[in-house]
Amino acid sequence: MKACPGNFLPNLKNENIVQTLNTLFKFEYKLTYCMKKLIIPAAVFAAMLLFTQCSSSKKSATTSTYTGPVTVTYQANVLPIVQAHCAPCHISGKGNKASLDKYDVAQNNINDIIRRISLEPGKFGFMPKKHDRLSDDLIQVFKDWKTQGMVDSK
Ligand code: HEC
Repeated sequence: MKACPGNFLPNLKNENIVQTLNTLFKFEYKLTYCMKKLIIPAAVFAAMLLFTQCSSSKKSATTSTYTGPVTVTYQANVLPIVQAHCAPCHISGKGNKASLDKYDVAQNNINDIIRRISLEPGKFGFMPKKHDRLSDDLIQVFKDWKTQGMVDSK
């Protein structure tokens, strides 16, 4: 790209008003011309930048969020429910019931867990004892954990 004319300012000191105006006009003309030469590529460049940014962020969004089918894991999904709904009775060191905050204990008791949390409140053996029934979504987490092979963590 041609360099933009930038050396008109010294000419403005000229005594001759016509020449000064002329210079100013020329300066303005060159400036507009120059700006056109700059603005159009700049706009094109900005548009391209925007476009590539948009498409690349879309791409990275899909690659970073999609990690395959969601697997229910003990650490990420089951343990938080145990800690929130089965405490203190089933937390090791706090309650004296099966320590469901331990992976292998929860794994060994999975059928009993699912059976008990699926009971109607008030039925013999219902869990969580003395609390509201877990929501269907939370009950489903235990069921999914079992059918997906009871993974500990990813
Ligand atoms: C308020 C205390 C309390 C809470 C909260 C509680 N349980 Fe229990 N849990 C008990 C008691 C007491 C027993 C033993 C008596 C029985 O079998 O009903 C028991 C027994 C169990 C058993 C049989 C193994 C064992 O430890 O004897 C399982 C499985 C179980 N609970 C699962 C759960 C799950 C899952 C939760 C949370 C969703 C939960 N419980 C919440 C008190 C509790």
